[in-house]
Amino acid sequence: MKIATILGTRPEIIKLSPLIPLLEKQFTHILIHTGQHYDYEMDKVFFEELKLKEPNYKLNVGSHPQGKQTGIMLEKIESVLLKEKPNLVIVQGDTNSTLAGALAASKLGIKILHVESGCRSFNREMPEEINRVLTDAISSYLIAPDEQAVENLKKENVHGKIINLGSTAFDAALRIKIFVDSTPMKEEYVLLTLHRAENTTPEQLRSILGSLNELAKEIPIIFPIHPRTQKIVTDHNINISNIKSIPPTSYLKFISLLAHSKFCVTDSGGIQEEALVFNIPCLIPRNETEWMRLVDAGKNFLIGTEPKKIKNAILDLWSNEDKLQFIKEIQVDYPRNVSKNIIDMITGES
Ligand code: UD1
Repeated sequence: MKIATILGTRPEIIKLSPLIPLLEKQFTHILIHTGQHYDYEMDKVFFEELKLKEPNYKLNVGSHPQGKQTGIMLEKIESVLLKEKPNLVIVQGDTNSTLAGALAASKLGIKILHVESGCRSFNREMPEEINRVLTDAISSYLIAPDEQAVENLKKENVHGKIINLGSTAFDAALRIKIFVDSTPMKEEYVLLTLHRAENTTPEQLRSILGSLNELAKEIPIIFPIHPRTQKIVTDHNINISNIKSIPPTSYLKFISLLAHSKFCVTDSGGIQEEALVFNIPCLIPRNETEWMRLVDAGKNFLIGTEPKKIKNAILDLWSNEDKLQFIKEIQVDYPRNVSKNIIDMITGES
């Protein structure tokens, strides 16, 4: 059996990192990198740190408007698939690389396995939501991370086979956990990340960061900046002088920062799951999340996108030790060996 895995962005590299070596062992496997992310610290550093093989194909698509980026990927991926003729294509998550990979495979009649299937924000203004819905509609094997995702897929009457195996983000975080230095940090801090389209319009970003820059006079905030966010901060002269901003970090460095933080504030999806592995509460500056299980459990909190509310939510949790302890004592389980179970599922089907 020949399998092609298609990826292109930082979260796909991380969440597929436990699966790729297993695919390599078991099958004839080719890795296709679209090049959606291309900076060293958004791409190569993860291949090095997570000891992944070099992609067999680097498509070097780069940054473009949404449609153009997806279109170029579609064309280039199709050529590779025509040449390699895999029996199965694996895609992960909800990026433009995910959709382009799935679409190229479906047009050639190649079966698609979608990892992290069925997640929904129910916000159709997010490009990711459209990517998820469309990818799920054309996938043959839908690997759902939880029961909620299964329910979402059933409601959409998808054609493929729905299999609830859990999220590979947990495998990835557990793999790196042993390398995290357990020495406590000298100073307490909040870890911040912001990159979603809805939070990075120049007006919204100025407003949120303006508010957090004030707060950072009292509360140490560490902020690894995504290139999209950095570009807007620079182009629009947004003052973040009190916030400790740093370039995007490697996975181990980020996980170490997360594990030692008092809590984190993030609009990323993957970090909401990683935070659970290290029992770090998450404040989510969004109105909805695909990971409602963790919000319902009382571990993570949707705090909206209004700057004042974000600031107050941070201040409240920072100064309320009892509340923080209460959240930390809530037990939420998560599945293990998800990647291995995906391999077993593929073997069983072939
Ligand atoms: C993409 C995904 C998003 C995911 C995120 C993780 C889509 C629609 N969105 O968003 O779901 O959460 O990746 O990071 O696919 N840039 C660089 N260097 C890079 C990559 C990007 O400078 O290596 C800059 C470019 O200016 C680019 C901008 O960041 O225009 C946005 O990058 P893009 O890949 O289009 O989307 P992300 O915001 O990263």
